[in-house]
Amino acid sequence: MPTTQTHEIAAAKRLENVRYAIRDLACVADEVIKQGHKVLPLNVGDPLNFDFQTPPHIIEAAYKAMRDGKNGYAPSPGIPEALEAIRGEAARKGITTVRDVFVTSGVSETVDLCISALVNPGEDILTPKPDYPLYSAVLCKLGIALNAYDLNEDDVWQPELADIERKLTSRTRAIVLINPNNPTGSLCSRQMLEQIADLARRHNLVVFSDEIYDKLILDYDSQGNAIPHIAFAAVAPDVPCITFGGMSKNYLVPGWRIGWGIVSGDAAAIKPYTEGIHRLLRARLCANHPEQYAIKPALEGPQDHLIEVCRKLRSRRDLTQKWCESTPRVSCVAPRGAFYAYPKIDIPESDEVFVKELIRQKHVMVVHGSGFGQKPGTQHFRIVFLPDEKTLTKAYAGIAEFIRDRYGNE
Ligand SMILES: Cc1ncc(COP(=O)(O)O)c(C=O)c1O
Repeated sequence: MPTTQTHEIAAAKRLENVRYAIRDLACVADEVIKQGHKVLPLNVGDPLNFDFQTPPHIIEAAYKAMRDGKNGYAPSPGIPEALEAIRGEAARKGITTVRDVFVTSGVSETVDLCISALVNPGEDILTPKPDYPLYSAVLCKLGIALNAYDLNEDDVWQPELADIERKLTSRTRAIVLINPNNPTGSLCSRQMLEQIADLARRHNLVVFSDEIYDKLILDYDSQGNAIPHIAFAAVAPDVPCITFGGMSKNYLVPGWRIGWGIVSGDAAAIKPYTEGIHRLLRARLCANHPEQYAIKPALEGPQDHLIEVCRKLRSRRDLTQKWCESTPRVSCVAPRGAFYAYPKIDIPESDEVFVKELIRQKHVMVVHGSGFGQKPGTQHFRIVFLPDEKTLTKAYAGIAEFIRDRYGNE
């Protein structure tokens, strides 16, 4: 006998605080699209929405793997040749105390898995504010209270050490660094990494260093050479650390869902935690299999595409920065890596209203600062500066006009 379902199926209460502002704005954009307008998406960090192409030899490697029948489950930690290539990459990053490496379905899975394997109910981890919203979403999912430390806009968005000290408790297990940073585009200085390492040593913390954008560095030194990225684990070889890396951004395949973790630090200290991670790796069977055959060709093959990607990004960063500096009510710490700018706006209403009205009136989609977390009383928005110069110029003219018409230029 069929029975009738009469009650709503409620989602779990712990999801109430899960926000993913970047995608939530899609509802507003849908309204505008239904009215027949085209919306310019400056909200999602997907280079393949714009004039960036995946290097062909990487596609060929995954295609070949599929043709060769690599379509079953892979070993849970990842295929051996990918693991070896990631160890090579760790060495190139200057990480000398690698204890383990594993492959995941995107850095998103690394984040979920590494937090889940570490934190007990009642404990917490320090996450940056503003942050990449996945971190707070995973913590909500696990029922872990958020413990966010400030990034200091007045100090080129460096972590605010005094705030970290204030927020640390005996139940704090880890600290998250996002370097290069999303949403601010900032880089951690070596001195800052050393200070965080010192803090981690004193408080027995694991460091999660999210370095997914480590090959997208946009600054030059005084001799005109691109400045190298500094890996946290290279600065602090003894500190228990998991470095997060992946293919989505550096190798232009965000849809493939390939990421990894590099475990480093004191071998005895990190061993039980690493075993916990492997328990979860086995429980979820494996990461995407055929795409793993592209990891070695990506990391060890030609890197020419990166020169072109960084050239385009530098030019678009410069254009963005110039616009921020010349537009009333807007100011911005210049981004130094990745493809995000995080301007401050001086407006008399919330940045969420600003962003939603901007979509409705100018059909340009950016993300409000409150979606990433920010200091009370400040307002920001995040721009993805991946589009070409002509598209960005048009978008920025629209935003400037919107600001002038809605708030005035004073
Ligand atoms: C800082 C940061 N970490 C992790 C991710 C997720 O990356 P993946 O595509 O590898 O899951 C992103 C994606 O935008 C990100 O910006």
